[in-house]
Parts: sequence; structure tokens; C-alpha cells
Amino acid sequence: MLNSTATLRPSGLGNLNFGLNSSQEQKLTPQAFEQWRGFIYELCGIYFQDNKKYLLESRLQKRIKHLNIDSFENYLHFLKTHPTREEEKKQLYEAITINETYFFRNQPQLDALVASIVPDLLSNRPGGFQKLKIWSAASSSGEEAYSIAMMLNELILPKYPNLKVEIIGTDINYAVIDTANKGVFKEYSIRNTPPIYLKKYFEKEGNTYIIDPKIKSMVSFKYLNLYDANAMRMMSKSDVIFCANVLIYFNQESKIKVVDQLYNNLNQNGYLFIGYSETLHGISKAFKLVSFPKTIGYKKG
Ligand SMILES: C[S@@+](CC[C@H](N)C(=O)[O-])C[C@H]1O[C@@H](n2cnc3c(N)ncnc32)[C@H](O)[C@@H]1O
Repeated sequence: MLNSTATLRPSGLGNLNFGLNSSQEQKLTPQAFEQWRGFIYELCGIYFQDNKKYLLESRLQKRIKHLNIDSFENYLHFLKTHPTREEEKKQLYEAITINETYFFRNQPQLDALVASIVPDLLSNRPGGFQKLKIWSAASSSGEEAYSIAMMLNELILPKYPNLKVEIIGTDINYAVIDTANKGVFKEYSIRNTPPIYLKKYFEKEGNTYIIDPKIKSMVSFKYLNLYDANAMRMMSKSDVIFCANVLIYFNQESKIKVVDQLYNNLNQNGYLFIGYSETLHGISKAFKLVSFPKTIGYKKG
């Protein structure tokens, strides 16, 4: 991990501070903004619109200060050339991503999952060993994945005791994956949780809420960049994918690329859910639109 400026400046790189006081606030020039947004876009598909220039500036400023680098241009140079650049990219993702999430954020989707989708999928696989793979793509700190686990444990597993459920949460931000793996949440995360679930599946300790060990054991989390085609190929054979509230940060081109990969990663008859404010209109014609009470989903095949 990067925590000392000494490790950031091997002699070969020269002095990154060109006489400017690093405590001074640096401004992101229009040219530097163009370079930065291109760089970030190539890495992870996130596209900073013109009106988000100040957001990007303030997010990058924190890293620049931390590393004691004197300009946005030199921070970019650092990320392209420094031996520790892969480590620093993790910090960059942490700085630029927005990780807003909470338990039971989209109840109609969860209801559709347990009332229609899972019974439908399992009815096509009669007898023998039954397995279900559900992927929360861009899971942030795991609230969505754990909500799915609670719903399945409550409403599906009693009816299908032999069902093997695999729930995977992935994100590009290591800090939120760490929180997801710990399974300890703040009041903010549980604000929309139905009381019956809160009582049954959380233990309150001080100001925190600890997820029930059984629910925790149903879910695993790992790093995955949705814009990395090779990494995406590892996520094949999913039955249901939740990819909510992340496409809004992409542009048309990166949305098309990512949704295309999600489609490839679904089993035939599998389903994709995206966020309330998101649409596949103009992004993909491959899916069949399916209506459920108070929500819609996208079906493959
Ligand atoms: C607003 S949160 C949505 C969390 C959850 N899906 C929900 O709807 O509540 C968006 C998440 O997308 C992640 N993200 C952004 N770009 C990504 C990428 N290229 N690959 C994987 N995750 C990404 C962010 O780190 C963040 O945690």
C-alpha cells in the first residue's frame, strides 16, 4: 500500500514537485481535464461529463495532496509510469467512485426475484441437483447482495431445500469490498430495511449492525472492473445479474460494451436488473423486456 511519499519517488522518476507549494490548491485546466477523463474512461468506462469537472478536480485533489504531488499532470504521469501505479489505481478508484447504496434499495426487484424469476428458472431444471448463480455487479459495500440472500433464505430456501445458491458481489473499489466482507453496517445502510428482516438478520452492537453469519456465508465479494473484458469473461453462467446504479456513470459507448458483456455472462433465460433511473433503450436490443409488479427486468432468450 502507498502510505509514504518516500516510496513514491524513486530516483529514476525525479522530483515531482516543481517548486510549487503542494499545499496550494491546484486547478484542473481544460487540457488536463480532457487528459484525465480520457485516462479514467480507458481504465474503467466512467465518463466525467463537462459539468462534473469540479467533482473530478476535488476528488483528485485529495490524492495529489496525500502523495505530495504538485499538479494534476504529474499525478497522471505518476499513474502511467510509476512502479506502484497498479496500487495507486486502487486509490484512484476509491477517490472517483460514488458508492451510495442501502439494504432493500429496490424492493420490487427483490419481490420479482423470489415470486417469479427463481421459480421460473427452477421449473426449467426439474429434478436432480439445482443451482442458482446470482451476481450483484457493482455491489458497492454489499447491501444489495445481502438483501438478495435474506430474501432467498426467507422465501425460497424453505421451498427448495436442496437448492445451492451462489451470490457474488463485485466492485472496482477495494474499500467497499472490504466493508462488504466485514458485514458490519451503519444506521444509514439499514434505513429502508423491513423491521422483520432487521430483527431477524442483524445484531446491533453500539451504532453498528452486524449481518447474520448464515446470510454472510451465502455471499462472497471480489474485485472486478466491469470495463475489463478479460475479467468479465470469468463471470459467465449467471442466472440473474443485478447491475444497478452504475451505468449512469458510463457514456453510451461504455454502456454498450458493459451490457453486451453482461448479456454474454447470463445463462439462457437469465435475467438482468438495472437501476430505477437507468434504461437499455439505445444500448441493447438483445434482451426481452419483462414486466413485474412495479418494476421491469430484462430477459435473455
Ligand atoms: C452507486 S453504487 C451502486 C451500488 C448498488 N448496485 C446499488 O444499486 O445500490 C455504484 C458502484 O459502482 C462501482 N463501479 C463504478 N465503476 C465500476 C466499474 N467499472 N466496475 C465495477 N464497479 C464499478 C462503484 O465503485 C460503486 O460502488
